[in-house]
Amino acid sequence: MSLRPQDVIRRKRDREKLSRDEIASFVRGAVDGTWADYQSSALLMAVFLNGMTDDERHHLTEEMLHSGEVLDFSDISKPKVDKHSTGGVGDKTSLILAPLAAACGVCVPMISGRGLGHTGGTLDKLEAIPGFRVQLSLEEFRRLLERIGFAMIGQTGELAPADKKIYALRDATSTVEAIPLIVASIMSKKLAAGLDALVLDVKTGTGAFMREEERARELAQALVATGNSCGVRTEALITDMNQPLGRAVGNALETKECIEILRGEVTEETRPVLELSVELAARMVALAGTETSLESARSAVLRALSSGAALELFRRNVEEQGGDVKVCDDPTRLLPLTLRSVKVESPQEGFVTGVDAAEVGRAVAIMGGGRTHMADRIDPAVGYLTRARIGEKVSRGDELGTLCFHDERLGRMAAEIIRAGYEISEKPPAELPTLIKEVITA
Ligand code: URA
Repeated sequence: MSLRPQDVIRRKRDREKLSRDEIASFVRGAVDGTWADYQSSALLMAVFLNGMTDDERHHLTEEMLHSGEVLDFSDISKPKVDKHSTGGVGDKTSLILAPLAAACGVCVPMISGRGLGHTGGTLDKLEAIPGFRVQLSLEEFRRLLERIGFAMIGQTGELAPADKKIYALRDATSTVEAIPLIVASIMSKKLAAGLDALVLDVKTGTGAFMREEERARELAQALVATGNSCGVRTEALITDMNQPLGRAVGNALETKECIEILRGEVTEETRPVLELSVELAARMVALAGTETSLESARSAVLRALSSGAALELFRRNVEEQGGDVKVCDDPTRLLPLTLRSVKVESPQEGFVTGVDAAEVGRAVAIMGGGRTHMADRIDPAVGYLTRARIGEKVSRGDELGTLCFHDERLGRMAAEIIRAGYEISEKPPAELPTLIKEVITA
């Protein structure tokens, strides 16, 4: 069978199934330049239009995974488990669930990303802690995993390098949204950490990558099937992103919220963050086989929280990654005294029936809290604290939330965007959003 790029492209164009060799030739060629960018792009568009079978998606994932180094932590006896979220607004569970799961005896080698556009990133939240270093060498990463049971670092150039090249081509050719391409991109990077098990949090709603629940389900099923076919026990939760998760949106505010939750300081507004973190951590522990049932895993996770064991591991991690541990005793230290705040008020009386979470994320990014381009610098302190949730009754002038900013002009712009993102209606919503909508297992 010919492996000329034009023949591989033609076969996908004509809805034929590609062989493993053809997929390998594409991945190799895209990276080493033996496929011209226009040929790789043509194949990506053919995949976007015609899809891939489960086998093709599996092969694409494996070829991208093996385009770089695959970490081997087999000398660490604990099961290696991670979580990946498809991204949302106020989505901060990693900082809570990693120490929770580690306190239950699993090893969490978390390779995380930065925020881009309206969604946040774990690395930016961690860097809101003064001194915290996320660019660790792989030796340091390994040492922390051995000593603490979890560590969080940035993507290195050695892991799944094909994804970087292919993602850039997808971005430039409007082919990002193809499910097989998303699956191979996410899974090749996650599986490069040498995992035994993986729990996915696939978000759906106004602040999610997959706004429609049906598309989120399709993505979750494809992610779970691919993870399992690659030999990694994988499950996915489909969770609500029709309003920011918890109270805080913005790096330092979110990190503060996470430390407060680890300290047991939970409010009505932050309870959903705890609930989701506990469920994700429990599923990680159960999938790892450290506990014999999901029920016992949930109990173990709750014990790790109430005993302070998870907070203690978090504190040790902050210390080892160079951060100021005093934030664990006094999370308000994360916020500079120069930070100013203003209430965003409801323009009318009624019920909150919708929040455009992506617009909330965009408003925080505009104030300096997020990026348009990967190279942009961010202001970790700015953000938004939500008050009114979907279903709540508000009067005219009531607080919808509070903006925290440095620049008055940007703060005013953000307030306008956020106010316009709330839908206030005469009648209450027919139903309230359910946080955990579905669980997809193999
Ligand atoms: N996140 C990724 O890492 N890759 C995609 O393709 C989409 C979201």
